[in-house]
Amino acid sequence: MKNIFSHQLITLRRRKKLSQNDLARKLYVSRQSISKWENGENEPGIDKLITLSEILGVSLDFLILGKDNMNDLILKISGLTKAFAQPVLNGIDLNIYGKDRIALLGSNGAGKSTLVKVIYGELQPDTGRVASYINNKDDLNVMTQDDVLMEDLKVIEQVQLAALIDKVYSEEFIEQLIRKFRLEKQKNTFVGKLSGGQKRRLSLLLTLLRDSKLLILDEPTVGMDLESIDFFWRYLDHVGGCVITITHDFNQIDKYFSRVLLLKDGKIMQDVSVDKIHSHNQTIEQWYRQFNNEEEHVK
Ligand SMILES: Nc1ncnc2c1ncn2[C@@H]1O[C@H](COP(=O)(O)OP(=O)(O)OP(=O)(O)O)[C@@H](O)[C@H]1O
Ligand SMILES: [Mg+2]
Repeated sequence: MKNIFSHQLITLRRRKKLSQNDLARKLYVSRQSISKWENGENEPGIDKLITLSEILGVSLDFLILGKDNMNDLILKISGLTKAFAQPVLNGIDLNIYGKDRIALLGSNGAGKSTLVKVIYGELQPDTGRVASYINNKDDLNVMTQDDVLMEDLKVIEQVQLAALIDKVYSEEFIEQLIRKFRLEKQKNTFVGKLSGGQKRRLSLLLTLLRDSKLLILDEPTVGMDLESIDFFWRYLDHVGGCVITITHDFNQIDKYFSRVLLLKDGKIMQDVSVDKIHSHNQTIEQWYRQFNNEEEHVK
């Protein structure tokens, strides 16, 4: 395990913006011990490995082997139905795996937000169930379609608060993220006074503070300017774990997803791999237009 573990430790420690000293303090070991682990001269015992994986926010597998078992089933959705005044979800069956990067597509009102709300537990289904094999409290990050922000806090305070809640608080880390998400000038602005796009960027920042096994993004790029949209997609490419993104922004999504779901008439009408779409020389947008319309003609 030596080489992979050493490499993982250095990478993950830097990603968390922790110095060897910071990490040593958190683990109650000397800085020299951390240095030896990183040089591959020595290895920590299992209790320290477990604490390390918690501090670094990754699974033990990932810390030691450099990969999670990505083929693991993380959600099993069976026979899901949900109606408001009208039926919205009419029997959804779906298996979602740790490696999936899913674009959830469908027209306005198709039920995409309803489906993810049932997945992350904001809504109860009428029938059927969602079996989750992850810990929703620690392993799930959600960015909802509407920004859920505290309007009376300053941007910096909102980020600090969320970082404390997510147990990733570090001044340096927070400053870096605010810079990355281009909110530096608005640091001391009240959240309620931000523009729509700035609020969206702040929501995204808060959602991505910690790593997760499942990341759900409901129309993340709406209202963002072009630079922010480009930044978002590039950033998303480096996010680990399963991602389910609802989007109508077809411009550059072909690079970022492995699987596409089309929700129509309350059902998953299509569930295909992006490789398959590309093997037919189609972009996701062309595929979507074809299938979303095709079903319309059939009706
Ligand atoms: N809380 C609610 N009460 C009543 N009806 C609702 C509620 N939430 C959603 N609906 C209805 O359910 C249907 C699906 O809504 P949903 O928000 O899931 O669609 P969507 O696919 O996310 O659409 P969009 O692309 O516009 O975000 C719509 O007809 C909507 O009016
Ligand atoms: Mg929606």
